[in-house]
Amino acid sequence: MCGIIGYIGKDVANKIILEGLKRLEYRGYDSVGTATIDAKNHLIIKKDVGRIEEVNTKLNLLEPASNIMLGHCRWATHGAPTRENAHPHLDCKNNVAVVHNGVIENFLELKEELIEGGHKFVSRTDTEVVPHLVEEGLNAGLSFYDATVNAIRRIKGSYALAIISTREPDKIICARNESPLVLGVSDSGTFCASDIPAILPYTNKVIVLNNGELAILEANKFVIKRVSDGITLSREAKVIEWSIEQAEKQGYPHFMLKEIHEQPTSLRNALRLQEQYLDLIATFLDRGEKIFLLAAGTSHYACIASSYMFSKLARLATYPIISSEFIENYGESVGIDTVILAVSQSGETYDTLKAVDYARMRAATILGITNVVGSTLTRVSRAYIVQQSGPEIGVAATKSYTAQVLVLAQLALKLAKIRGKLSQDEIDELKASLNRIPEVVENVLETREEKVKAIAKKYAKEKLFLFLGRGISTATALEGRLKLLEISYTPSLAYPAGESKHGPISIIEDGVPVIFICPNDETRKEIIGNIMEMKARGAKIISVCEKGDQKIANLSDDIIEIPKVNPLLSPIPYIIPLQLLAYYIAIEKGLDPDKPRNLAKSVTVP
Ligand code: F6R
Repeated sequence: MCGIIGYIGKDVANKIILEGLKRLEYRGYDSVGTATIDAKNHLIIKKDVGRIEEVNTKLNLLEPASNIMLGHCRWATHGAPTRENAHPHLDCKNNVAVVHNGVIENFLELKEELIEGGHKFVSRTDTEVVPHLVEEGLNAGLSFYDATVNAIRRIKGSYALAIISTREPDKIICARNESPLVLGVSDSGTFCASDIPAILPYTNKVIVLNNGELAILEANKFVIKRVSDGITLSREAKVIEWSIEQAEKQGYPHFMLKEIHEQPTSLRNALRLQEQYLDLIATFLDRGEKIFLLAAGTSHYACIASSYMFSKLARLATYPIISSEFIENYGESVGIDTVILAVSQSGETYDTLKAVDYARMRAATILGITNVVGSTLTRVSRAYIVQQSGPEIGVAATKSYTAQVLVLAQLALKLAKIRGKLSQDEIDELKASLNRIPEVVENVLETREEKVKAIAKKYAKEKLFLFLGRGISTATALEGRLKLLEISYTPSLAYPAGESKHGPISIIEDGVPVIFICPNDETRKEIIGNIMEMKARGAKIISVCEKGDQKIANLSDDIIEIPKVNPLLSPIPYIIPLQLLAYYIAIEKGLDPDKPRNLAKSVTVP
């Protein structure tokens, strides 16, 4: 997602910020901006859409030289990538400049209130409420710190914020909740940044800010306070021994592992969708006669999982179709009564866009779910939702998959509500289960990784794997197989377990590993039957099952237990060990999981 950086000190800040922004580039961005305070105590804002070098060539970010500066590279979430939406954002009087990474959940309410109070907004971003809230405090005579702390107490959601003001031009105030933010100290000055690599060439003395904390940075000191009660906290700087390359991966050896571990955060962000877009898309889906869920690769498996949710929750039949097959298979049936929900992390997949274009020409309603605001899919969709996972750098989709499933689950629930298919109690219970998902994933990552590593070691040399699941777990089997196949190059099959007797069972002989995905749902009894069939033919059984499921444990050679969840949401936590398994098998085989051969992150050719 976006990257922020700030510096205040003895040195010229501009060069430090420009170089820091370049080191934040790897996170992905569409626009760049800086804020500084000149000798006349005026805020100077320079920002535009484009690469850092392009924006620098156009606007000369090195002038005017100053000892205080904020920088931002933006990955659009609220509002298209335009100059107006680029950060920094300002208050009405150009006294306060803010850069932000994250999602402010309650910005619409705050914006309405501020507009009523006479504030003028120029962007469509959630961030812009922050400078106006600080302005409110300054207008009431508060200090920069008091005005800022009051503003931060009013916002809900995820944020790493850095703020400067002409009222007190010798300070940067920054704050953190759920979006990463670190401070740095050196003999020359004080820094804040979204991650360590941005400041590592200048200092390796780093302080990690925790959720609910803010820091007041001055040229030669910093103070950390708790936002809720303003209590001052003491924290020692840590010396970082990483290289810049290691630091970009936040100490993880690969982006894929970093992104697997980012899932509690990306899932929390996927729960912060704007209700009005969910409502709109659910309304369009409700009106459709034929509903196709269009996607490729991993996104297709998210669609398969969601087709069970749409059917079970909203009693709506939807058809998950692989994009490249859509026109041949269903093209002639598309008309004005057709609704296409296209799901694409990049929003640029050729096959998906081609099928969308075809359907658009036949007057179908196009809806989108994507991770990239401003992508082609967002431009051709009647309505779209941004899943807010942040840039995914590993070629294998991990955090974008679980976020897609979570977005689709929210959509299915919304549709169930619109169609009056669930009671209020059922809706409340499902909402609570949705909200618990990031925690469950956190628990799986914290407690199961070592077990998965050991299983990967044990089975890494196997020549073939079979993945089986029933019902909604068919999607998990397919996605688990794709992960293993694409990064460890191990030939693998995945089937709905009910199909295994119709062919795949013929490959089973002594020692062939079969991975069963068996949450405790209505398919459990039948999947136990499938496990016994495979076991009887000599297969090694690896089961991903509910914690405490003794019967499945007794039938399995290895188990990975997952805490109890609503079975309809099981595709999210149950895929985590399979992502880790693929990763660790690739490592055991000496392969680079970030660069699987022959694969591209975004497939933009037929
Ligand atoms: C697998 C993977 C690909 C993509 C597919 C679709 O790990 O990443 O299979 O899922 O190329 O990409 P998007 O979602 O960008 O349309």
